[in-house]
Amino acid sequence: MAAPTLTTPFDVAEADRLLTTTRSVRKRLDLDRPVDLQVILDCLEVAVHAPSAANSQLWRWLVVTSPDLKAKLAELFRSGGQDYLRSQLETPGDDAARRVYQSAAHLVDVLERVPVLVVPCVAAEVDLENAPALYGSVFPALWNFMLALRARGLGSTYTTFHLAHADEAARLLGIPAGITQVGLVPVAYTVGTDFRPAARRPAAELTYVDRWGVAPAETRGTS
Ligand SMILES: Cc1cc2nc3c(=O)[nH]c(=O)nc-3n(C[C@H](O)[C@H](O)[C@H](O)COP(=O)(O)O)c2cc1C
Repeated sequence: MAAPTLTTPFDVAEADRLLTTTRSVRKRLDLDRPVDLQVILDCLEVAVHAPSAANSQLWRWLVVTSPDLKAKLAELFRSGGQDYLRSQLETPGDDAARRVYQSAAHLVDVLERVPVLVVPCVAAEVDLENAPALYGSVFPALWNFMLALRARGLGSTYTTFHLAHADEAARLLGIPAGITQVGLVPVAYTVGTDFRPAARRPAAELTYVDRWGVAPAETRGTS
């Protein structure tokens, strides 16, 4: 007798490939290939299907394409990140961390040449009490956006360096009071699309079942 065919609503292998190979792309951003605004808008339409607290949908997106504005934003980004990156690169550390900082330093150098910079925002003032709900309502959409970009051959990185100068960025971009920037996402087509999954500690080492400290392997076959 033939084995029953297992059906799933998606091609799981392909979905997992998207989810595990959407990386922070910095050195492989194609700085010379233009990005049509429409592809960004398409990805944002995907992004806004993400969950948000009480379905508040308070995400807002500012898509920056003007060379002059990108250059000014890049200056703020550089000023916010350069000293931190320099100090990290001067501190002895493991190779993997060094590669991240070197890659981040490269992005600092080329940011203004990236075709599109997206500033995700939340339409609220963020304070200590509401931060989890407000930031937590934008990040799922932001990740959706990054996945949708990757599915179309574009790459991005979530960054925070320019937030040290968020007020100046708000003046530059006409962002009104009451709107909080949550980062800056450079977007470009990628040079090649063959990204590999990142090295990560296995989730099974960081996951417990029923009681803190009880590893999944210890509970197998008990239910
Ligand atoms: C909260 C947060 C802040 C980050 N800030 C920056 C940043 O300012 N600059 C940058 O180049 N990358 C930034 N990143 C990207 C991380 O460096 C990156 O996600 C991490 O090294 C893992 O690499 P991967 O995304 O390729 O797997 C940030 C990521 C997160 C989640």
